[in-house]
Amino acid sequence: MPAQLIDGAAVASRLRQTIRQRVSTLSAQHGRAPGLAVILVGQDPASQVYVRNKGKATLEVGMHSIEHHLDASTSETELLNLVARLNNDPLVDGILVQLPLPRHIDSQRVLLAIDPNKDVDGFHPINAGRLMTGQEGLVPCTPSGCMLLLKEALTSPAGMHAVVVGRSNIVGKPVAQLLLQADCTVTIAHSRTNDLPAMCRSADILIAAVGKPEMIRGDWIKPGAIVIDVGINRIDTAEGKTKLVGDVATQEALPHALAITPVPGGVGPMTIACLLNNTLTAFERHQRQ
Ligand code: GUN
Repeated sequence: MPAQLIDGAAVASRLRQTIRQRVSTLSAQHGRAPGLAVILVGQDPASQVYVRNKGKATLEVGMHSIEHHLDASTSETELLNLVARLNNDPLVDGILVQLPLPRHIDSQRVLLAIDPNKDVDGFHPINAGRLMTGQEGLVPCTPSGCMLLLKEALTSPAGMHAVVVGRSNIVGKPVAQLLLQADCTVTIAHSRTNDLPAMCRSADILIAAVGKPEMIRGDWIKPGAIVIDVGINRIDTAEGKTKLVGDVATQEALPHALAITPVPGGVGPMTIACLLNNTLTAFERHQRQ
């Protein structure tokens, strides 16, 4: 039987609906809506699209959206001053600085300047440390989205072997921590892993987060495995057009896997929904303080 396709658009839509209802209740209770501030520096076209989509999604769930579009020539000091202002603004619950930043700005320094309790990307080392040590924090959005999609295919991943291919701070490392918290046995594999196909074949759960179009072939998939494909790669087609593909050769994987996330329409739609969820979480915690 071919694999179940895990419908990320539907799961994300359900999550946004739940968030919308909670925002409505909490806004009435506290006299203000959760606020998400997004900072974009420069004119990168892909970043402009992301920021526009985030702003639209924020408004759709009834949150307050604050967008700062800064010129590419903005200095690091100016950006740090803006982050400091947003850190101190009681109407702002979440702060996101869109990456990549122009080369003259030190991204690490900027991410470190964000109040960890407003760090809705979950990129601050304090939040990475909280995740690693099992403390309450803000978890990066794409890894959270992967875990929600995994739940669509499995009641419990406990005891299973999860192989994460990719070791980035944004996806690979945090998703490995979440799988460990869910009682999986976790391997983090990467481009230097010996016999990567064999490693993948040992995975009950395979998370592909390498950023290489269709690198993971069908015969790398263990029969009955759950495959979560984080890759979003634009490639040229034979017809002279372009299309999006994942890190997994999906058509080849279908006869092997029990369930797989498609690209597009799998992990992609989950990221913004999880960002809104983090903003809601940050708002709720700010009300508690
Ligand atoms: N650029 C591309 N994806 C992301 C993301 O998830 N967060 C931020 N801050 N920048 C990005």
